[in-house]
Formats: sequence, structure tokens, C-alpha cells
Amino acid sequence: MAPVISADVDRAARILREGGIVAIPTETVYGLAALVHHQSAVARVFAVKDRPTSHPLIVHLSPHDDPTRWGRLDEAATRLAGAFWPGPITLLVPRTQLVPDWVTGGRDTVALRVPAHPLALALLERLDDALVAPSANRFGRVSPTTPRHVADDLGSEVDMILDGGPCTIGVESTIVECVDSTIRVLRHGAVTVERIADTIGHAPLPPAGESRAPGMLASHYAPRATVLVFESLDEARQACEEVARRGGLAVVLWEPDAEIYAATLYDRLRRADNERADVVAAVLPDDTGIGSAVRERLLKAAAPR
Ligand code: TXA
Ligand code: MG
Repeated sequence: MAPVISADVDRAARILREGGIVAIPTETVYGLAALVHHQSAVARVFAVKDRPTSHPLIVHLSPHDDPTRWGRLDEAATRLAGAFWPGPITLLVPRTQLVPDWVTGGRDTVALRVPAHPLALALLERLDDALVAPSANRFGRVSPTTPRHVADDLGSEVDMILDGGPCTIGVESTIVECVDSTIRVLRHGAVTVERIADTIGHAPLPPAGESRAPGMLASHYAPRATVLVFESLDEARQACEEVARRGGLAVVLWEPDAEIYAATLYDRLRRADNERADVVAAVLPDDTGIGSAVRERLLKAAAPR
């Protein structure tokens, strides 16, 4: 059965209040939402995604909510929230009693974010709880950036897809850990390391040896096709010719404008799979601005599985 795809925010709010699950648009990627305090709905989010319950979920807040009800934001976190919310940055901070164990997998931290999409905000305003919303893809697939992607992955297993059109940013939010006075960027996104440094007054650190963000596995960013990465378009083209000579199908992935690269990345990886490409030969953008986020996703996609 085809899922309901509609822009009706009131209907989405009603379904969520009744304990349903709704795919929602954000400025980054589509999320699969449930009320934070509706335990069985959150359990269904994990089940529909095939996601291990040890992989904690991001709590999405309305801008009218007080984030300190949910987490303990230190000075740096407070600055980042003030500078970038609503927007594509998730803050990983010590949690409060309000955050249930079934959202964090029992961890002592919670990931908080205020999304910037108008429909997500309209929806959050109608609810008196926050929303969990992991990316609305099946576990191990790339994140969805259109309602069609969500329907392809999850079909009628979701109660509704709230149609907010294609996501403008196209890669997941930047995750910044603000714990014990240490600021680490765990996942790159549209809020760049440069802008974070400007806001907190110093450069943030990279993830510690063992990342505190489980679930950032290579396979999360990979299509079925083998991804090969190159520093130049010439090298990528050569690789494609090589694959063609052996009778395979290879496609080049490249876009000179890093913002457009990010916005189209996941759709193009999905298309490569739909076209049954054997190989995606991707050109890495420069490691600056949102190019860092695209680069990080491509390197993960190319890592041995
Ligand atoms: O842009 C985004 O962040 C999208 C949209 C829908 O908001 N959401 C998203 O969620 O990417 P998800 O679940 O696909 O990725 C969240 C990442 C996961 O790697 C998860 O393990 C990590 O954040 N995470 C969440 N809560 C955490 C916690 N308490 N401690 C460590 N890592 C956490
Ligand atoms: Mg995800």
C-alpha cells in the first residue's frame, strides 16, 4: 500500500499525538518522527528502520521550548544554540531527567536540535512534546532528501509522509559534542568548523579515538554500488573507462559547487543504485565549508564494508 504523502501539518500532529510515526521534512534530510515520551511509537521508529536500540536518537525541539529542560548546555553549547538554532546543528550535551532512556539507549548525554524547515517548525508548535527523528531511511541506506526517497525505503510502514519538498541542505546536521568543557565535531554538516570556531572563540576538536556518536558507520552513507573516491575529475573519468572496459557500469559523481554537491549527493547515489551502476567514481570536494561534510560522507561510503 502506498503511504499517505501530504503537506497537512494538522493531520501529522494528530497522528503523532495518537502514537503514530510520521516522516517529516527538515532542512537537512527527512526524519522519521515520533513523540519522545511515547515509548511504543519510539520503539516502532527503531523497528521500521531496522535500527539497533543502542543507537540513540536526536531530540528535535520547537524554538519556543527551553532546551535546558532537556540538556545541560554549557557556555559554548549556549552560544552555538543561540547562533545556529533553528538550523543544521545538533548539540550533544549531558541529559536531564526529562529525557527517557529509550531515546538515548541509557546514555548520560542527549542530542538536541531545532530544525529550520517551516513545516517541521509548524508541526513542533502543535505538539506539547519534542520529536525523535532519525533519518527516515532503512538502516544502512543513505538518508532520504525527498518524500519519494522515504516512500521507496519505508513505504506503508510509516503512517504519513509530511511533504515539504526536497531538502535544501541535503546532508545531515553537524553534530557537536559539548561535554566536560570540551567541544568536538563528531559529524560535519552545513554549520562548518570555521563558523563553530568563530562562535566559540577557538577551534573545536575532532572526535576522540572512540567516537561518542555510535551509528556513524561507513555503511550509513553508502549506496549498494562500490564507491571509489578521487581528488580529480580526470582520475574519476579514467576509473569509469576502466570499469567500462571490463563490461561494468560506472558513473562519475562530481559537482564544482560544494553546496549543490551536498544538496544532490544522496539523490545521485540513489539514482546510481536505481540504474544498477557497479561503481560510483566520486570526486572529493575540498575539505572546507560544506565540502568537508560531502567529503566525510564520500570517504565513509568508500571505506571497506
Ligand atoms: O540532520 C539530522 O541530524 C537528521 C535530521 C532528520 O534531523 N537526523 C539524523 O539522525 O541524522 P540520525 O539518527 O540518522 O543520526 C544521529 C546521529 C547518530 O549517529 C546517533 O548515534 C548520534 O547522532 N547520537 C544521537 N544521540 C546521541 C547520544 N546521546 N550520544 C551519542 N551519539 C548520539
Ligand atoms: Mg541516519
